[in-house]
Amino acid sequence: MTFKEHILQGIPKNLPDKKTYPATANRAPKRKDILSVDEKKLAVNNALRYFPKAWHAILAPEFAQELQEYGRIYMYRFKPDYKMYARPIDAYPAKTKAAAAIMLMIQNNLNPAVAQHPEELITYGGNGAVFQNWAQYLLTMQYLSQMTDEQTLHMYSGHPMGLFPSSKKAPRVIVTNGMMIPNYSSPDDWERFNALGVTQYGQMTAGSYMYIGPQGIVHGTTITVMNAFRKVLKKGESSAGKIFLTAGLGGMSGAQPKAGNIAGCITICAEVNPKAAKKRHEQGWVDVLVENMDDLLIQVKKTQENKEVKSFAYVGNVVEVWERFYEEEIFINVGSDQTSLHIPWTGGYYPMDYSYEEANKMIKDNPEKFKKAVQKTLRRHAAAINKHTERGTYFFDYGNAFLLEASRAGADVMAENGIDFKYPSYVQDILGPMCFDYGFGPFRWVCTSGKPEDLDYTDKMAGEVLQEIMETAPKEIQLQMQDNITWIHNAKKNNLVVGSQARILYADAEGRIKIAKAFNNAVKTGKIGPVVLGRDHHDVSGTDSPFRETSNIYDGSKFTADMAIHNVIGDSFRGATWVSVHNGGGVGWGEVINGGFGLLLDGTDEANNRLKNMLFYDVNNGISRRSWARNKEALFAIKREMRRTPELKVTLPYMVDKDILENLF
Ligand SMILES: NC(=O)c1ccc[n+]([C@@H]2O[C@H](COP(=O)([O-])OP(=O)(O)OC[C@H]3O[C@@H](n4cnc5c(N)ncnc54)[C@H](O)[C@@H]3O)[C@@H](O)[C@H]2O)c1
Repeated sequence: MTFKEHILQGIPKNLPDKKTYPATANRAPKRKDILSVDEKKLAVNNALRYFPKAWHAILAPEFAQELQEYGRIYMYRFKPDYKMYARPIDAYPAKTKAAAAIMLMIQNNLNPAVAQHPEELITYGGNGAVFQNWAQYLLTMQYLSQMTDEQTLHMYSGHPMGLFPSSKKAPRVIVTNGMMIPNYSSPDDWERFNALGVTQYGQMTAGSYMYIGPQGIVHGTTITVMNAFRKVLKKGESSAGKIFLTAGLGGMSGAQPKAGNIAGCITICAEVNPKAAKKRHEQGWVDVLVENMDDLLIQVKKTQENKEVKSFAYVGNVVEVWERFYEEEIFINVGSDQTSLHIPWTGGYYPMDYSYEEANKMIKDNPEKFKKAVQKTLRRHAAAINKHTERGTYFFDYGNAFLLEASRAGADVMAENGIDFKYPSYVQDILGPMCFDYGFGPFRWVCTSGKPEDLDYTDKMAGEVLQEIMETAPKEIQLQMQDNITWIHNAKKNNLVVGSQARILYADAEGRIKIAKAFNNAVKTGKIGPVVLGRDHHDVSGTDSPFRETSNIYDGSKFTADMAIHNVIGDSFRGATWVSVHNGGGVGWGEVINGGFGLLLDGTDEANNRLKNMLFYDVNNGISRRSWARNKEALFAIKREMRRTPELKVTLPYMVDKDILENLF
């Protein structure tokens, strides 16, 4: 059978042979055994409804065993044998280019070179799923291959509910992931309902088919690290020889040393999982691998003296590093943490005093003990950070729920008012005021021809567009523009493409629209193949997340999710090819609502209209909300946009003098 025939077939006609997991696979952690016996029967029943009755007697015990062994039913037998990667768009059997583009993006998210646990359909973050099981994948690809441009596919947490009649102007796919009745959104609810096979954790770009490998994160992390140093360095002082200490060399966190190198500092990144540390070292994402603390101390001191730019992976617990560096009086200029504290009890964060293997065993055998050990370590971790910040270290929370979980563990991380944290999040101090409030966010594109030359051409075009905008840009956004121009000029040199031919570039509404127009024109004139536009959900408008994206909203509305919902609805009727909205994301189930889109540029005039309308709303929705929350930078940006676009009329806040409120109550 050819690849196209496989896709068209959906669930195979004949029961495929049972498969064994490859010995080298990076397996997803075993999930919590949370279902009662009746619920387990329901989970198997739910799984079997994808298959004809004749197979049930064979599949039922197999699925029961998967549930018992892994805590989930992945239906591994149905994983297709063809290679999983983003093929050029014409390789897909489809009646519309839009559907073929979505298939390409789905396969990219499952490519083993890109995905964290590809056998379990997890793209990143430990639990960021594209689908819950392989039957959903097969059916979805089949639906996409059959879809016309007057149908829409509705995706319920990985499950393709089906194709429904719509119109040419409608999105081709609507994705929701993990949408719950609010009272059923605790981490254990995810364990239970995901095990039942009725919901999934889509993270951000995993469940919306928009992940482009670590490149996306390198750009954002570079901007963050660079601006963190700008906050602590004196004018004209360089970051060479200055230290950035952090943890995690996993999916996203693995970008930190590379970003540190681009930002020109010394990065020390602790990682407890030797496999993850070695992988990043072999990939060239971190310069030096160190397995022993004394060795680390010697090498770091030497690098400091020589004012070198270098990154170190330390195989061990990050708390050891914070503590030993204090004893050794090594000054840490900038500190953060990117362990996976959004999933603290299932291997997101490893405790001190246990080996990596012992800790993993404890997760399975004694989860309560593991939880206590994690909380004890968090208290110790925060105490060590506090000692450093007293010496002048600048510490920020990297949106991984570090401060949230540390506070829940009783660590000393609260501010004097008992409400706020002692330390800012990277969005409060850096990305919020410096980027999101002005509309700058992680815009991205994928060249669907799969040709590197197309990517080179788009890089060049995007650089030229930004350069032109820069000439008349107001001083408030000159720094951002310059950083992004530098990024795009060096993008190819940084060698960041893994999987599809994709590029990320922080840009504001004006930049995104002008770049997209230039691309669409190039597609029209045949200079490049069709281009998919999208963005990380971690952006200006798409995400309501009180401990991350919207942590710099101070009018009390950061615990609302209206913005994200307006965004997904607003994008959907303004021209997006597909839209998505998720519960979950980086900070945890129940802690964030986030959404995104994909938009195919096929060179038509219709695409030109769509991109203008949709990208404009996709950015300005968030700026207007941020300006209503009285954020100075957003007020500047929305007023400027209203002058440029007379059809835009946004409600602006009157500023209130503080003394008016002083003696009211
Ligand atoms: N990169 C970003 O821009 C960004 C932005 C927002 C949030 N985050 C958050 O960062 C976290 C990490 O994401 P990821 O995709 O890298 O997750 P991941 O699970 O792939 O990686 C985390 C790594 O931390 C390691 N680790 C856990 N405890 C440790 C400890 N005590 N000491 C040293 N290493 C330890 C784990 O072994 C793992 O490899 C997530 O919570 C994510 O939401 C990242």
